[in-house]
Amino acid sequence: MNPRLKFEILTLFPKFFESPTKQSVISRAIKNGVIQINIRNIRDYASDKHRTVDDKPFGGGEGMVLKIDTLVSALQSIDSNQKPYTVLLDPKGKKFDQNHAEILSNKKNITLVCGHYEGVDQRFADNWADEIISIGDYVLSGGESAALVLIDSITRLLPGTLGNEKSAKKDSFSKIKNSAGIMKRILEYPVYTRPEVFQEKRVPDVLISGDHSKIKAWRQTKALETTKKSRPDLI
Ligand code: ADE
Repeated sequence: MNPRLKFEILTLFPKFFESPTKQSVISRAIKNGVIQINIRNIRDYASDKHRTVDDKPFGGGEGMVLKIDTLVSALQSIDSNQKPYTVLLDPKGKKFDQNHAEILSNKKNITLVCGHYEGVDQRFADNWADEIISIGDYVLSGGESAALVLIDSITRLLPGTLGNEKSAKKDSFSKIKNSAGIMKRILEYPVYTRPEVFQEKRVPDVLISGDHSKIKAWRQTKALETTKKSRPDLI
């Protein structure tokens, strides 16, 4: 049976993905046939005998640039009857968020291209990438960890991945309607587990009161408080 979502990863460091794809939610989603992950080494698509993947930037300057011909060969090697949606991971891209993860979770095929060095030839970004995504305002040494962030956040939204489908909806960054009926994304309320008292630190009384409507109200208040404190920009 076809997976619900097929990821293709183009990378210079295929081993980067070995362990993360064997753990937890991602590994379960692979086992359950919800997702499939294929990894291609960009270097395998280099055309010269030295397997060159990068070159000096035109106009001079620091670092090396990933070559367009190699990237396009790697991309075109993907055998797919549906055109894969191509995402280039690059700090110059649009900043990724939960909304974006939800949109991408509706795709059937996503190809993640991991940039490296000074970046990729802009002609690839302009003409072969459907979109360019950054996972945050910092520079990583490559797009591999960003690709993993996308795979994780998208996969956990797919039915059959998490044991409890309800809990993905209540997670931090889920939507709530405010009093004006406008959808907002807020952070999750704080959670506690046993023991009830640890080194004189007590679990809030309301949570052990057994009063479910009080608990619900407390959680809503706390979720808003947490959001106001940590991420006022969300409100
Ligand atoms: N490659 C390097 N930095 C990155 C970032 N912040 N997001 C996505 N890809 C990257």
